[in-house]
This record gives sequence, structure tokens and C-alpha cells, in this order.
Amino acid sequence: MSQDLLHQDEIRALVREAYAAIDGGSRAVAEKLYGHDELEGIPAVAIERALGVGNHLRHARIRPGDTVLDLGCGSGIDSILAARKTGPAGRVLALDFLPEMLERTAAAAKEAGLDTIETLEGEMEAIPLADASVDCVISNGVLNLSPRKARALAECARVLRPAGELCVADLTVDEEELPPEVLTHPAAWAG
Ligand SMILES: C[S@@+](CC[C@H](N)C(=O)[O-])C[C@H]1O[C@@H](n2cnc3c(N)ncnc32)[C@H](O)[C@@H]1O
Repeated sequence: MSQDLLHQDEIRALVREAYAAIDGGSRAVAEKLYGHDELEGIPAVAIERALGVGNHLRHARIRPGDTVLDLGCGSGIDSILAARKTGPAGRVLALDFLPEMLERTAAAAKEAGLDTIETLEGEMEAIPLADASVDCVISNGVLNLSPRKARALAECARVLRPAGELCVADLTVDEEELPPEVLTHPAAWAG
């Protein structure tokens, strides 16, 4: 986490390419991570394209009326679950750098009848939001994809209001340093 790697542009392009190419169509990830009650009423486009690594929303302290930022929203499953918690007085800002992900999130939100989810095109390393404008940042399987993790985390801190919270599900490594063949392997970055 302490080190941002060189070759950031190449890594960013590689991650973009990998996620643009993902073909959805399986409920396996969603059914592993979420309960039946949570999945009820979530549109198929969001369930079948869930790409998260955990269910952090069970731990997120989201209150009615909150503004939540879903960092790397993908097809929107967590944005929808968060919008249920913020209620009609709240807002969920669904951020992703791929327009096709944002289109799916917008379609899923519409199908779910939620008009409090706003899609936002941008990068987690340069979040297009004002300082101290968000109550809770949620993120599921996204920070590990950044070649500039420290920068992405600093951006989360910048947009959070005082006492705001960051609730993350992600991949971590226990070793001090990964071997170079893993660090430089495209599939290890995007997978
Ligand atoms: C593993 S998927 C997780 C999607 C979603 N959170 C979920 O649980 O289904 C990672 C998502 O992060 C997005 N992403 C990757 N790098 C990004 C970046 N630097 N800025 C914004 N979004 C990014 C990808 O386009 C993809 O939608």
C-alpha cells in the first residue's frame, strides 16, 4: 500500500481493457456474497455482473439521508443496496471509469425504481467531487486495481466529511512484497 508503482498508464489501460471485456451472465458471485433477502428486487443486470469480493455493506453504517460514494460501482449491485439504506432523502454517487459500467448501473437503478443513484464517470485517483461532500465511501474489489493506491485512499479521505466512513471489501497481501513476476503480470493486476 505504501508504494505506488511506475508504469501507471499501462496498468490503468490494462485494467480498463480487462473490465470492458468481461462478459457477464452468471449469478455465482452475487449468490456467494449476498443473502436471498438482499438480492430480492435487484435487477438481473446487476446480479449477473456482480464482481465484488465481499459484502462490506453489512458493516457499513449508512443512515437515511446520507450521501454515499460507491467507488468502482461496476454494474451497480452495491449502489442499489446502499440506496435502500439511504432512502429517498439520501444520494448514492456511483463512480466508475468505464461508461459501459455506468450505463448498466443506471439501467439497474431505473429498473429497481431508484432515482437517488447518480452515475459519475471518473477515476478513483482523481474523484470528481468536492472536498468533504460524502458521508460514506463504499468500495468492493476496486482499490486493489489501482496502481496508485495511496492516491486513491487520499482521494477518499478528501471527499469524506469529518467523521465520514470508508467501508471497503478488497484483496490484500500478507507478504511484505510480491515477487516481481506477480507484480508485473497483467492477470494479477486485473484479476
Ligand atoms: C472488480 S470490479 C467491482 C465492481 C463492483 N464494485 C461490484 O462489486 O460488482 C472493479 C470495478 O472498478 C472499476 N475500476 C477499476 N479501476 C478504476 C479506476 N481507476 N477508477 C474508477 N473505476 C475503476 C472497473 O471498471 C470495475 O467496474
